[in-house]
Amino acid sequence: MKVILMDIDKLIEEAKRARNFSYSPYSGLKVGAAVLSNGKIFTGCNIENSSYGLTVCAERVAIFKSISEGYRNIEAITIYGEKMLHPCGACLQVMEEFCKENCKIIITDGKNVEIYKLKELLPHPFSKNALQLHP
Ligand code: THU
Repeated sequence: MKVILMDIDKLIEEAKRARNFSYSPYSGLKVGAAVLSNGKIFTGCNIENSSYGLTVCAERVAIFKSISEGYRNIEAITIYGEKMLHPCGACLQVMEEFCKENCKIIITDGKNVEIYKLKELLPHPFSKNALQLHP
């Protein structure tokens, strides 16, 4: 399925809405995310913890919601912040696992929009092919 402009507008709207649910009392950085998977949208927000390392980014929450509902083909991911936020390394590695070949990573602060391919953000991923599970 091809991601069209209408999908991008809808994803941005959903990521903006999800941002309202951000639990970020430690950083104060509210982030929302929306994932398009087989035509269905899953949202997420960042969820922090007093044990800081347990914090989960908005995009990983959205991806895991999608996967846990059986939607494994991620076609687009939107990240909505008050600043332009590029995904952290952990999220990029999770995207590597589940994003389809031409998956669009859409970053927005509500004014600017940047669209990337995963390859641009993570040019040399650790890929599942390296594990040679079925030699
Ligand atoms: N964060 C995200 O949710 N997504 C990103 O792409 C970057 C960072 C969150 C995690 C944490 O709650 C806060 O931003 C500060 O790192």
